[in-house]
Amino acid sequence: MASHIVHETPFAPYRQLSAEELTHRIRQIKDQLGERLLILGHHYQRDEVVELADLRGDSYRLSALAAANETCRAIVFCGVHFMAETADILANRPERLARRDGQRIPVVLPDLSAGCSMADMAEIAQVEDCWYQLSEVAGEDTIVPVTYVNSSAAIKGFCGRHGGIVCTSANADAALRWALARGQKVLFFPDQHLGRNTALKLGIPLERMQVWDPHAPEWGGSDPDALQRATIVLWKGHCSVHQMFLPEHVDYFRREYPGIKILVHPECMMEVVAQADEIGSTGRIIRLVNEAPPGTHWAIGTELHLVHRLKQEHPEQEIYFLSPVVCMCSTMYRIDLPHLCWALENLAEGTPVNVIRVDDPTAADALVALERMLELSGGG
Ligand code: 13P
Ligand code: SF4
Repeated sequence: MASHIVHETPFAPYRQLSAEELTHRIRQIKDQLGERLLILGHHYQRDEVVELADLRGDSYRLSALAAANETCRAIVFCGVHFMAETADILANRPERLARRDGQRIPVVLPDLSAGCSMADMAEIAQVEDCWYQLSEVAGEDTIVPVTYVNSSAAIKGFCGRHGGIVCTSANADAALRWALARGQKVLFFPDQHLGRNTALKLGIPLERMQVWDPHAPEWGGSDPDALQRATIVLWKGHCSVHQMFLPEHVDYFRREYPGIKILVHPECMMEVVAQADEIGSTGRIIRLVNEAPPGTHWAIGTELHLVHRLKQEHPEQEIYFLSPVVCMCSTMYRIDLPHLCWALENLAEGTPVNVIRVDDPTAADALVALERMLELSGGG
């Protein structure tokens, strides 16, 4: 018979505590640390976690908040790994460090396994290989790289070094316009859907887009002529959550609920976005629902926790989840009360755990691309 050995870790006892106990202890730390602590929460977080955040937002807003805050001395990021990396780069940029006499702000991710499968679809070695091949076809000076913020710091650094920019789903069109004003070709990664939907919005036809598959043996599964003609080269990545929303789900709601408004995130596939009434980052989705008159009917295509929260907060409207299957971000979900309490108590004791620290050279390059994004109008 197999023996089961349970390894007791300092975190393990937190699993035994009730939600009430954990919430109480988290609130105590928040009171104790006051403005020195900033808890940021993405809209996809569980309700019990997002309620404890000092500030919540979409990826753009959270980046901007991390960049702007002057008072906190520690950030606890209830989101995923790339978001914590971005907060580390922005909160500890040289200008801010100088004002704090070199004191770093630790950025803590309560559970280190909270990653993003889309961000993992573009590795720096693959991107460099793609860049090398594209440069052979088009000449390096003509290509501008644009990375979705859902990417590693190394990829953001690559964009900084090569005259590129970061975007979020709230400002992808402004970032793409920025890039097209500086080059003849854009390499957009890692989300092919955000890239394609944004390019279509700017009037770039599908014939001018080419998909780059990093796993193909050569030329990203394309050919040099097609790559030469393309205005946008789209990295073959996607969000495992948003790819679950399908055109037939839109058809169903249009058929069964005449007059319903379809509202989707731009990480959804083109065929879904084309049929939607409204498209937006999570921040825009929330704003549209907040501003809609009572009695509005919505079918919303984005992560489950956000849609459920909107449904609870707006009983005066009819809100449906666009897919019949559960589309939740399982990595966002890993941030729970036990991890948050464990991370905060360690922080308060002066022994921070799960600190996300981007190395200095990567952070310096990534900052260039992030600052270009923050300077764009049209964010948030
Ligand atoms: P936004 O926060 O930009 O809406 O993006 C959603 C998302 O998938 C975050 O990972
Ligand atoms: Fe990544 Fe998709 Fe989860 Fe966002 S929702 S963190 S893109 S897997």
